[in-house]
Amino acid sequence: MSDGNIDLKAEARARAYSMPLDDINPTDIELWRTETMWPYFERLRKEDPVHLHPAEHHEDGAFWSVTKYNDIMAVDTNHEAFSSEPSITIFDPKEDFTLPMFIAMDPPKHDVQRKTVSPIVSPHNLQILEPLIRQRIQNTLDALPINEPFDWVDRVSIELTTQMLATLFDFPWEDRRKLTRWSDVATAGPESGLFSSDDPEIVEAERKMELFECVDYFSRLWAERIAQPPKGDLISMLAHGEATKDMDRMEYLGNLILLIVGGNDTTRNSMTGSVWALNQNPDQYDKLRANPELVPSMVSETIRWQTPLAHMRRTATRDVELGGKTIKKGDKVIMWYASGNRDEDVIENPNAYIIDRERPRQHLSFGFGIHRCVGNRLAELQLKILWEEILARFPTIKVVEEPKRVPSAFVKGYESMTVIIPSKN
Ligand code: HEM
Repeated sequence: MSDGNIDLKAEARARAYSMPLDDINPTDIELWRTETMWPYFERLRKEDPVHLHPAEHHEDGAFWSVTKYNDIMAVDTNHEAFSSEPSITIFDPKEDFTLPMFIAMDPPKHDVQRKTVSPIVSPHNLQILEPLIRQRIQNTLDALPINEPFDWVDRVSIELTTQMLATLFDFPWEDRRKLTRWSDVATAGPESGLFSSDDPEIVEAERKMELFECVDYFSRLWAERIAQPPKGDLISMLAHGEATKDMDRMEYLGNLILLIVGGNDTTRNSMTGSVWALNQNPDQYDKLRANPELVPSMVSETIRWQTPLAHMRRTATRDVELGGKTIKKGDKVIMWYASGNRDEDVIENPNAYIIDRERPRQHLSFGFGIHRCVGNRLAELQLKILWEEILARFPTIKVVEEPKRVPSAFVKGYESMTVIIPSKN
């Protein structure tokens, strides 16, 4: 199987280098669905690494694309000049439906809310969680069909990340797929097929309705937890936390969505991405089988190569210089992590998937600075255990057709991927 459609990729390369720079639109979801965005980013990195996309080309107005590793790092680590408010996606919040969440807040409020939930992923808590994560991964893998095609995304990636979230929230086990649904509904666009129509107004109305169901459900759990002494799950932490106990309903919902999406889509797509990357690079799969001690560096390489969140947005709080350009106060700045992770000036042979790189954790996928991913060690742990258990039981996992990608310039992932696990002999 080839890496996608070769003609499509050649055509994208020709287009990327022939169109005027101002016509390049990295937010075009078609580029992500077909994975043809790479040559556009390559050109931006080479010719205009801090590039202003003019307003008339984009329904969300003008925005800057920052595409090189060190420039992205400079933005991400300067939260005074580059604010996370009002939003970390290119869209501004809808006036009648704002969801405050700490990823889209600046200090001091961000810091105290983040501190409230961080203990869930402390090294000590991860040690406690490890046997449970391993047990659940073992059970899930042992239930997979052999010699029969199935969807890896649904049976493994979604199932395991949903189980993890249910554990972190101490959420009713039998209802755990509701978490998957809410996560998908919170981020999906009109073209996702998740809603009854692709009319944007209907989509927004349905999205709201489902998210209100989500907050109603979690409000019942909050009432339960607040009536009990503090425990180690996320709802109890939020309900008893000094910085979060007085949140209103929308802020509770916002932070829930943050934790659900943060822990769900990202790890899910790394799990699928690891199987896809190893299938695309059979020499690396052989290397991994021969050297299982490479699992941790393979995990980091997968997270770089996949870049499950393609970008984060900031908004300039004052006029600021970056890469020889003046970004004006109020301008939208998009840090394209996916592009920075392929920056040939920082990462050697960046388009290649190499599981034993010298510095495998050198990537932008978790961000940097005060918003650096809270769950990064948990995500790595889940993936490490998954691969230890895969190597212990399956000779290989064979991807049988090109995966279906998520049509999004934000969540870089897979909707489905059919695989077969052959029997051992
Ligand atoms: C923040 C990526 C897994 C919870 C972030 C950010 C990125 C990211 C890019 C923003 C960083 C920035 O703005 O500088 C990822 C990836 C993951 C992953 C690639 C998996 C491979 C998780 C997990 C959890 C989680 C498992 C929860 C259990 C969060 C939270 C934030 C965050 C709460 C907000 C942090 C803040 O604003 O201070 N993540 N994440 N993430 N992530 Fe993750």
